[in-house]
Amino acid sequence: MMTNPRVAIVGATGAVGVELLSCLESRNFPLSSLKLLASKRSAGKQVAFRGEMLTVEELTKDSFSDVDIALFSAGGDISREYAPIAGEAGCVVIDNSSAFRQDENVPLVVPEINPEAAFNHPRNIIANPNCTTIITLMALYPLHRRFGLKTIIASSYQAVSGSGQHGITELENQVRAITNGHPVEISTYPRQIAFNVLPQIDKFTDTGYTKEELKMLNEGRKIMELPELKVTCTCVRVPVYRSHSISCVAQFEQDVDVEAARACFADMPGVALMDDPDNNVWPTPLDSTNGDTCYVGRIRKDLAIDNALNLWVVGDQVRKGAALNAVQIAELLVSRA
Ligand code: A2P
Repeated sequence: MMTNPRVAIVGATGAVGVELLSCLESRNFPLSSLKLLASKRSAGKQVAFRGEMLTVEELTKDSFSDVDIALFSAGGDISREYAPIAGEAGCVVIDNSSAFRQDENVPLVVPEINPEAAFNHPRNIIANPNCTTIITLMALYPLHRRFGLKTIIASSYQAVSGSGQHGITELENQVRAITNGHPVEISTYPRQIAFNVLPQIDKFTDTGYTKEELKMLNEGRKIMELPELKVTCTCVRVPVYRSHSISCVAQFEQDVDVEAARACFADMPGVALMDDPDNNVWPTPLDSTNGDTCYVGRIRKDLAIDNALNLWVVGDQVRKGAALNAVQIAELLVSRA
């Protein structure tokens, strides 16, 4: 069954849903059927997949009886309602929302970091981590293996794709309005995002940190099995289409060395160095956009903190930060079938 699973995408018409479809197609995922689910508004819409036209269906409680793997990307409320129903119907859910990430019976998986965790899913739900967390850990995990990670101090520069199609549309509309001398309309973000940066992503908690910032802490601890890991971070929305960037200071147990740090990336799939400051080589969000690789640059010994490296990492939020990571988890399940 899992060798050629029957697959469904929940939220198939959204920004991540469209990319899930594209990853399944480009990676030749060995599925035997594909069901596209979205809201009633999209039912009947035709979508191309492997040269055929598929019809989008309305998501209902009965959608999962003939599905082996369901990739969910329709927001937390839909996941909270439908993922347990799908799981109980015997379907394995790979959920892109934050709804189950801290559930101790739900593994939180980055295939390059903790692939084994994917095989212990008592609720038939596997959580796909937060996009900024995935991209940051792709850079820090190989260093952790060598030096032992203690503390992360980070600032993120997050693209509007992280807010789904609404975020992308809002940025485009505001840029168009401003360049044409028209008034700016604000709906998705609390303030104007065009030609601006917003130091708030998701809601504030009573710690003064936003929920997005606390995901870096809680999810980093769970994925790397480091319950004592310390993380402090500021997450910032920037007027970039779809790749996130993270500026990171990482402090380690052991003494660090820049050349040894660079060497750590040689055996880390999915990450490449772009680090030649003398020739202006450092990664930008555009370098990772529409690609599967996260790029790391500006690796240097931190001047302020002992045993610490300072670095910059970029990754496509819609791909490695969401759809690609989810499809890689599905590939893990198929590999053990
Ligand atoms: P629809 O296009 O029919 O609204 P994004 O993150 O880009 O905003 O996409 C959200 C995805 O979640 C879309 O595919 C959207 O479908 C889907 N979605 C939103 N509400 C529901 C719902 N009530 N039932 C099923 N899918 C939903």
